[in-house]
Amino acid sequence: QKIVLAYSGGLDTSVILKWLKETYDAEIIAFTADIGQKEELDGLEEKALATGASKVYIDDLRDEFAKDFIFPMFQAGAMYEGQYLLGTSIARPLIAKRMVEIARAEGATAIAHGATGKGNDQVRFELGVAGLAPDIEVIAPWRLEEFRGSFPGRAEMIAYAEAHGIPVTASAAKSYSMDRNLLHISYESGVLEDPWYDASAEASKDMYLLSVSPEDAPDEAEYLELEFKQGNVVALNGEAMSPLQVMEKLNELGGKHGIGRVDMVENRFVGMKSRGVYETPGGTILFTAHRKMESITMDREVMNLRDSLITRYSTLVYNGFWFAPERLALQALVTESQKNVTGTVRVKLYKGNVIGAGVKSPVSLYNPDIATMEADPTQAYDQGDATGFIRLNALRLKVAAGVNQNQ
Ligand code: ARG
Ligand code: SIN
Repeated sequence: QKIVLAYSGGLDTSVILKWLKETYDAEIIAFTADIGQKEELDGLEEKALATGASKVYIDDLRDEFAKDFIFPMFQAGAMYEGQYLLGTSIARPLIAKRMVEIARAEGATAIAHGATGKGNDQVRFELGVAGLAPDIEVIAPWRLEEFRGSFPGRAEMIAYAEAHGIPVTASAAKSYSMDRNLLHISYESGVLEDPWYDASAEASKDMYLLSVSPEDAPDEAEYLELEFKQGNVVALNGEAMSPLQVMEKLNELGGKHGIGRVDMVENRFVGMKSRGVYETPGGTILFTAHRKMESITMDREVMNLRDSLITRYSTLVYNGFWFAPERLALQALVTESQKNVTGTVRVKLYKGNVIGAGVKSPVSLYNPDIATMEADPTQAYDQGDATGFIRLNALRLKVAAGVNQNQ
């Protein structure tokens, strides 16, 4: 039997690699998607082989992640529970997709992951696999009695790792868990489980890897021009860039100016509330600039319709339904809504803020001649028409008010 394991090189997936190999007497193919976790990838291949993997895949999926996952999601304006830009959520379906491809190529019958039985990630991996390869079995060791029994805590895992010659790095001792990619870093658990714990205070300063705190950001604001074509950024400050390059540049600028930190308690799909701290520097600039681009290029009713679906769309992504038919249907509507979202947005980056500083478009719907308080040269709008407009809209309010008065 061959099993494809989503491997990160951390303590959990290292122990799982060894445990699967022993327990199932299987060949373990370790797979790591390079989706922008940077230094975490160093030495991974050697480590996986030393831990017992028969083969290792470390695939650079960064371009695909930016172009086919992050960008379409930002076209939709997705945001979960008003704050979370879905950095982990959007990466899981891509990892699932590539795992299925590897399983097919290697003739593996199962895939395994190290997500716990209490979180969202297990659901996202497994719904992703289900939607692409219904015949592939999924092994989630953290949900198995035998596995959990052997590893009631970190101490047992560290002991097991040491006994099996798995190098244990300093990160195993961290008092929180993190997930890093091109869009964000998330921090959860450990000290963060207390929602009154202040993660913005000096004591947590070293936790953040993508951004400085707003207090430490430069006193000088920095201007940035984002050029959009049909809802996607195609150039920054006049320089054409791929989606991956855009994300990298925006992360650098956002990080420098302390942009995109979020500290929230969110609702997991499995029913519990959970505290998460996020750094999404580039994504936060992109989100804000995209909305500004839409403000002059998108029709009111199209915007209203699309906005009414953002919660649905975001919940689908959060809950792991990326490959579900309803997400694809919504995406088609989003694509149509973005046809005209073309032009340039200028923003000012300053101490944690993304401040609008100008917007223009060759296909702008904004017409100062119509909106002006001065005489309208186009004669498109007759103020006298507003009288009837208000009268008709007021009709049912007056009727209702009259009924209420007579009660
Ligand atoms: N709460 C976030 C989400 O559900 C982040 C999850 C982080 N996952 C992890 N394995 N550390 O999308
Ligand atoms: C996990 O439980 O594996 C991480 C957190 C989550 O998936 O929500």
